[in-house]
Amino acid sequence: MKIKNSTALVTGANRGIGKAYVQALIKQGAKKVYAAMRDIETFKKSSSECLEKHKDVVELIPLDITSENQIASAAKKAEDIDLLVNNAGIANFSGLIAEENLSSARNEMEVNYFGTLSMIRAFAPTLKKNGGGAIVNVLSIASLVNIPVLGSYSASKAALYSLTQGVRAELAHQGTHVLGVFPGPIATDMAKDFPMEKSSPEETAIGTLHAIEDKQEDIFVDAFARQFQKDFQDNPIAIAKQFAEMLPEEVS
Ligand SMILES: NC(=O)c1ccc[n+]([C@@H]2O[C@H](COP(=O)([O-])OP(=O)(O)OC[C@H]3O[C@@H](n4cnc5c(N)ncnc54)[C@H](OP(=O)(O)O)[C@@H]3O)[C@@H](O)[C@H]2O)c1
Repeated sequence: MKIKNSTALVTGANRGIGKAYVQALIKQGAKKVYAAMRDIETFKKSSSECLEKHKDVVELIPLDITSENQIASAAKKAEDIDLLVNNAGIANFSGLIAEENLSSARNEMEVNYFGTLSMIRAFAPTLKKNGGGAIVNVLSIASLVNIPVLGSYSASKAALYSLTQGVRAELAHQGTHVLGVFPGPIATDMAKDFPMEKSSPEETAIGTLHAIEDKQEDIFVDAFARQFQKDFQDNPIAIAKQFAEMLPEEVS
């Protein structure tokens, strides 16, 4: 599909990579962009000038992707979309064993996996009605290898990778293109304490829009992710060991 004249909905659109998706979609001529986010009022105050400038294209939608009610309302309102960008996600920087209980791990699954699944289930009929369209799932290199400082996040993103493959198969008959994006470290709030060189959210967003037009399936856009993809193909066990070295030594 072409981005020009498309109608898109982006989750987590108020900051980070989600905001970059909205900006890139506007720049590349999308007809309409539903910018979905949890806190519309704060965003309206901080971005009033930009919203005024793009008022014919951008419409704000209140959306917490863990709320089935809000998802249902969004699906009712945005019934003209042909592109769904599942970007919203959380990373609690928690381990699998180190945490006192399962609440952090469950919370990441609830947003990253079940939230995204609920969005796809709600919007699949809309995409079908509008000719197939495309779904973008923002995964991570942590979908392919567990990064133990982000142990439970990595597990939720691995689940999301499996989901991506599954819905790609299930929605093929309706002509919906499903694209998986595997970023490395990106300069957003989420990665601010991550001790690595980071790429810009704009690079991820622009690379994703090109990949939609090229009908690619899994993409590694930034330099870190591209190198990761090569190294991972050569020796996945060695890569897992490298990331394990990021764990602090146990203090007794
Ligand atoms: N930054 C990286 O290094 C990196 C690397 C690989 C993959 N990713 C993935 O890229 C995506 C975007 O992350 P980012 O780096 O832009 O992080 P970010 O700056 O922390 O932004 C996360 C966005 O997700 C939203 N969000 C969180 N929980 C939500 C929920 N329940 N319902 C709706 N929206 C929710 C946040 O909304 P609020 O403002 O309301 O909290 C925010 O808009 C995530 O899926 C992340 O896992 C990021």
